[in-house]
This record gives sequence, structure tokens and C-alpha cells, in this order.
Amino acid sequence: MSERPWIEVAADLEDLAGRAARLFSEAARAAVAARGRFAVALSGGSTPRPVYERLAGPHHREEVPWARIEFFWADERCVPPEAPDSNYRMARETLLDRVAVDPERVHRIRGEAEPAAAARECAGELRRALDAAGEEPPHLDLALLGLGPDGHTASLFPDSAAIESDRLAEAVPAALVLPPVVDRVTLTPVALNAARAVAFLVSGGSKAAAVRAALEGPRDPARCPAQAIAPTRGRARWLLDAEAAAGLEGLDRPAAKGP
Ligand code: 6PG
Repeated sequence: MSERPWIEVAADLEDLAGRAARLFSEAARAAVAARGRFAVALSGGSTPRPVYERLAGPHHREEVPWARIEFFWADERCVPPEAPDSNYRMARETLLDRVAVDPERVHRIRGEAEPAAAARECAGELRRALDAAGEEPPHLDLALLGLGPDGHTASLFPDSAAIESDRLAEAVPAALVLPPVVDRVTLTPVALNAARAVAFLVSGGSKAAAVRAALEGPRDPARCPAQAIAPTRGRARWLLDAEAAAGLEGLDRPAAKGP
């Protein structure tokens, strides 16, 4: 049974990026200490970019057990891996090329493949790499997610059949998505809700209405797909900056500037 989300408000994007990088680093060290590896799903978009850059900076570069991390993606745009819109490319340039990852543990979604085939392959890879047996879904340790102004998260866009899917990954047609308007492949709520932790990273006033709808609006995951994300093993964590949090009425605790 999932619990109410934990909401944390940072002063601005820089503060949010610092907090998110610490969250990643602590989760990675704890998972490696407990289970010998850390399985994370990364998101694309603009908000995680400064988070990945911080993680590649001197402090976290030293303390994170990079070679023990299994990297997955919460979603991918159906473009080749070298295309400017590729989520894999963004993570590679900002993070993966700058730290000592194990290339065999980088499980990108094949954006260049036919979308339904890429989704099947993504689901199979998640199961294989995380040793999921039988009906049990694989357990990521952490899924880093974003939020779109329309309430989408990963590539779970409003009215997408992927929201209700019983598979781990699905293709989403370009007709449903916000720019870049290309087909997508996304993890589904089945995969994301099996994660040990999920963290939404949301910055900017253009997201304030979506944050409010996701956290305080009437429940309607078809219209606001972020509401479909409620990890069965714990609490979703929402890391917002002050502008993104501006529409919220019932905050857990007052806005605080980070250390
Ligand atoms: C993508 C995503 C997407 C993203 C949100 C927020 O491929 O675009 O993974 O779900 O997280 O659209 O994006 P921003 O951080 O750019 O606002």
C-alpha cells in the first residue's frame, strides 16, 4: 500500500539539482551496500541535465560506486542514439562519458528500432538484468522522473493506453506527445511502481498547475498520468523548486533553502 508523497521544496533549479544529486548518491551507496548493485532509471528533458552534471563533478564522481550501477531509462524518444533529442545521448554527454561506468550495465532503450519491438526489448532487458523471476516485476532501486505541463511523466501522456498497460514497457505514438513529436517508448506504471523509490524532479512556474493537479487535484490518471505513479513499496518523493511548488496549498512542510 503506497503512502502519501513526500514533498520537498528547493529554492531554485540549482538547489534542486544539488538535492537530487545527493539523493542519487545516497541511494546508490545504500543499494550497493545492501544488494551489491544500484538499478536506476533516468529521465530525459531539461530538469535532470544539471543533476547529471553535478553527479559527474568531483565530489560525487568520487563517492558514487559507478561501476556497480545498472542504468535504465524511464523513457526514450524514437530517434537514433546520436540524435540531439535522444535521452540516452543527453545522459551520455552529461554523465556516462564522464564517470567510470560499466558499459555492460548501460541498458539504453533502442530509439532507432521499431517502437513496439524496442518496448518489448526494453521490458526483457529490465527483467534479465534485474533477475526478475516469474510474475514478479523487476525492482529498480530508483526511478528519476520529470513532469510535463500536461501532467505527463516518463512518456506516459494523457489518454495513452500505456497508463493502464500490464506490461513493463510500451510504445507511445507521436500523436499523443508534446514536442519533440516523435514516437516514444516508456516504462509503464507496472515497472515504475515496482521501484524501491521514485523521485519527481520538477522546476519552473510552467509546471505549477501540473504539480497542483498531480498532488492535489481529483484523481484521474488518464488526464494526469503522474497520478498513476505510486510505488507499492514506499513513498514517491517530489523535489520541486519554489516556482513549481507555487500552486500547492497543503505542503508537508514550509519551503526551505538547501544547505
Ligand atoms: C522526456 C521525458 C519527459 C520529461 C518531462 C519533463 O523524454 O522528455 O523523460 O517525461 O521528464 O517532459 O521535462 P523537462 O524536465 O524538460 O521539463
